[in-house]
Amino acid sequence: MEHHPLVSWPEHGLIRSARWASRHRLPESLVTAGDELRADHFVRWARRGRAVLWRGDHRTARQVLAAAKRRLEPRATGFREHRLATARRAHLLSRLVVELDAGHRLALRHGPDVADACGQVLPAGPLLIPLTELLGVLGAHRWRTEGLRVPVLDRRIHPHHGVFAPTRQEYLDLVAGAPWPDPVTAFDIGTGTGVLALLLAHRGARHVVATDVEPRAVACARENTAGHGIEVLRTDLFPPCRADLVVCNPPWLPGVPGSSLDAAVYDPGSAMLRGFLHGLPHHLTPGGEGWLVLSDLAERLGLRTRDELTGTIAAAGLTVLDRLDVRPRHRTDRGPFAAQRAAEVVSLWRLAVADRPATPGVGPPAAGTRAVRCRLP
Ligand SMILES: C[S@@+](CC[C@H](N)C(=O)[O-])C[C@H]1O[C@@H](n2cnc3c(N)ncnc32)[C@H](O)[C@@H]1O
Repeated sequence: MEHHPLVSWPEHGLIRSARWASRHRLPESLVTAGDELRADHFVRWARRGRAVLWRGDHRTARQVLAAAKRRLEPRATGFREHRLATARRAHLLSRLVVELDAGHRLALRHGPDVADACGQVLPAGPLLIPLTELLGVLGAHRWRTEGLRVPVLDRRIHPHHGVFAPTRQEYLDLVAGAPWPDPVTAFDIGTGTGVLALLLAHRGARHVVATDVEPRAVACARENTAGHGIEVLRTDLFPPCRADLVVCNPPWLPGVPGSSLDAAVYDPGSAMLRGFLHGLPHHLTPGGEGWLVLSDLAERLGLRTRDELTGTIAAAGLTVLDRLDVRPRHRTDRGPFAAQRAAEVVSLWRLAVADRPATPGVGPPAAGTRAVRCRLP
């Protein structure tokens, strides 16, 4: 349950209050300001822990935000330092705040209609929310209503706010094109929008179970997969049974997530990756296959080595049947890590239980070892 503390501030001789709807910590103080505020001034206040409650024109607020963003451009060179600097910038920018009334309306000149978008994902108003986060809610709402076209499924997928959206789809082509083991049961571990679960059902898996730890992802996957006979469970990694095919596209960079969306990209200490690999032998039926979808960007950024990955696969008692590679189509040639991103390769590792047992003492608790084949409905 997210916590939304009350914030109070003086305005026109009154003490006003609203709930704080942000992943960023509360500001030390809050002042109201409008169109006269310059970006430099805002940045100075933000650095001192003071937030600005915007009362001017919505367009001017966006200009101030854009100018402050340029002034706070991170200059760090290493990936970890750059991430820290980017998080620090996001925190400072979060100090430009707007108010939403009890009906989630934004009372600013030229302000857009945000009530529907905010009503779906924010707690009851009145609220104070950083303008950056309000813009995020609006962008996510557009995706949720319009959906994202997924050619391999010949349909649209509707990502929810804070759920990983399949914008880069080369990994879907990998899963669509890999030799099909004709599974009766298949799992999609860490399902997000449910897109891979749908693809498994589309390719012919008769019983598909999808899991995720994030409640928003579970709700989103249930909505997207409704009517396809797919079971979506909120659970850590595996359901308590076995399948003929187990697919996982885990967060691909080791690191601590800073937000719920970050949790789809950053995996603290590669815990999900290792948990998936070590749990896999206990959740595959005899002769079953595990498909791990993973980008090598972490290796290119010096965050993980190839030997660490293949060592974990072997220590889990797995063997690599094959590896299918694809180069991302949407290359970015901007930003500090453009070269690494341009060279990135996404792979589908086809894994099976090795004849040799797993390294003793390495791996997950034995919770899954008694797992049985999933019963068909
Ligand atoms: C990179 S996203 C992939 C989403 C989706 N499968 C896809 O391919 O578009 C990783 C997903 O794993 C989920 N996740 C992270 N840790 C998990 C865990 N321990 N158990 C289940 N799901 C987890 C995240 O919430 C996120 O939805």
